[in-house]
Amino acid sequence: MFRYTPAGFPDPKACGAFYDARVGLLSGDDMMVLEYSGVEAQQRLFARAITLLPPQGDILDLGCGLGHLISCLDEKRLPYANYHGIDVSSRMIDEAAKRYSGRSEVSFERRDVLEEPLAPARYDTGYILSVLGYPLGDDPMRSMMGIIENSFSACRTGIVFSHLVSGRKAGLKFTTVPEELATRCKSELGAKVELDDDGADFTYLIVLRH
Ligand SMILES: C[S@@+](CC[C@H](N)C(=O)[O-])C[C@H]1O[C@@H](n2cnc3c(N)ncnc32)[C@H](O)[C@@H]1O
Repeated sequence: MFRYTPAGFPDPKACGAFYDARVGLLSGDDMMVLEYSGVEAQQRLFARAITLLPPQGDILDLGCGLGHLISCLDEKRLPYANYHGIDVSSRMIDEAAKRYSGRSEVSFERRDVLEEPLAPARYDTGYILSVLGYPLGDDPMRSMMGIIENSFSACRTGIVFSHLVSGRKAGLKFTTVPEELATRCKSELGAKVELDDDGADFTYLIVLRH
C-alpha cells in the first residue's frame, strides 16, 4: 500500500494522518515509516546538516519523526542543552517519546506551526530534515516559506533545512531550484544564506543564519 504516496496534502493535518498510518502499518521498519531509502541516506543527510550548522544550546527538530536526530547527536558526542521535537503526526510523537523517555533534556510535541506558530527566539539551532518534500495546500511555496520563516524566527542562531532539486530525479513530488530558493530566503527573510548542493544528490540543504 505505501509504495504509493500521494501527490501532496491539502493541509498539515492530512500530512499528519498519512504519517500516523505509516507508523501503524509499517512499525518495525523505521526507514519505511520515514520514507528513506535506507539508514545510510538518513545518516548522510544528518551528517551534512550538523556539519553545516552544529547543534548549540536549545535545539528545534521540526518534523522530527521518530526522533532519530537525537541518536545521531549522541553517537557523534555533540553536546546541546535541550532538544525539542515537533511533528504533525501524533503517532510519530508518541513513538519518539517512548524511545527517548527518561531523558530530561528531550521533549516532543504534536504541533502544526502554520496554525500555531512558534514564539520568536525560543531555540538556538533548528533542523528541518526530509520534511518539506510534499506540496502543502493550494500554494505550496507559500506554505513551505511559512514553515521556514517561523522556524527561522524561532531560532536565535539559525536553521538548516533540506529540499529536493528540480530535474535531478523522477517521481519527486515537490522540487525547487536551489539557487532560487536560496535567493528567496535571503530577500524575504533577510537571512545570511549558505547553500549545500553537490550537483549530484537530489537533496540539497540551505542554512539560514541571523
Ligand atoms: C520523512 S519524515 C522525516 C523525519 C525526521 N526529520 C528524519 O529525518 O528522520 C517527515 C516527517 O515530517 C513530518 N512533517 C511533515 N510536514 C510537517 C509539518 N508541516 N510540520 C511538522 N511536521 C511535519 C511528518 O509527519 C514526518 O514525521
